[in-house]
Amino acid sequence: MKRSMIYGSFLLLCVVGLAGQAVADVNSLRGVTEIPVTESAPELQRFINDKENINRTFKEQPPLVPHENEKYDITLKENKCLECHMKQPGKDEAKSVEMGESHFVNRDGKKLDRPSSNRYFCNQCHVPQIDAPPLVGNNFKSVAAK
Ligand code: HEC
Ligand code: HEC
Repeated sequence: MKRSMIYGSFLLLCVVGLAGQAVADVNSLRGVTEIPVTESAPELQRFINDKENINRTFKEQPPLVPHENEKYDITLKENKCLECHMKQPGKDEAKSVEMGESHFVNRDGKKLDRPSSNRYFCNQCHVPQIDAPPLVGNNFKSVAAK
């Protein structure tokens, strides 16, 4: 019993030591600041704005947002995205790229005349982009535009 405890503690020490080493070799994007120190927030990046629609990277990808979206509120009372991406009453078509039919189907497969509640928070799936080089070089090729 005692012996196994000694072996156990020895093993534990080794594991802790190895883990410590592994952590010490990793540099996070946050820099080399000690964990308890609060870093000031990074500067807000400029989102790309009014660019052409961005080619999709993979099939079924929610298209990326090619414009700023900070000003477009999504609250219980209003959803600014819908003003441009959904046909408004009395209009023949939406101001911009119209949301697909998939956005008007609820989880039971029933067609609705308003966007389904599980699509209400657009930026849960559609995200804006900043014009930045990739953090790590790679030769990934996206699928052709839809
Ligand atoms: C003032 C009108 C307007 C509003 C509001 C708006 N958009 Fe857009 N959106 C556009 C236009 C115009 C385009 C086409 C590209 C361009 O010219 O920027 C576009 C393109 C897109 C696309 C790309 C579609 C594709 O097929 O590639 C997505 C996704 C999108 N918007 C999502 C959103 C989301 C999410 C919001 C709310 C946070 C939003 N938009 C609010 C006008 C708008
Ligand atoms: C659960 C994820 C999800 C949410 C939430 C969501 N979308 Fe989408 N959206 C997608 C996917 C996936 C596609 C591509 C396939 C399709 O059209 O269904 C898409 C496509 C689009 C397109 C391009 C349609 C086309 O034919 O090019 C627009 C515009 C769009 N969405 C706007 C919106 C807006 C506005 C909202 C919020 C009201 C929203 N989406 C919410 C996943 C989502």
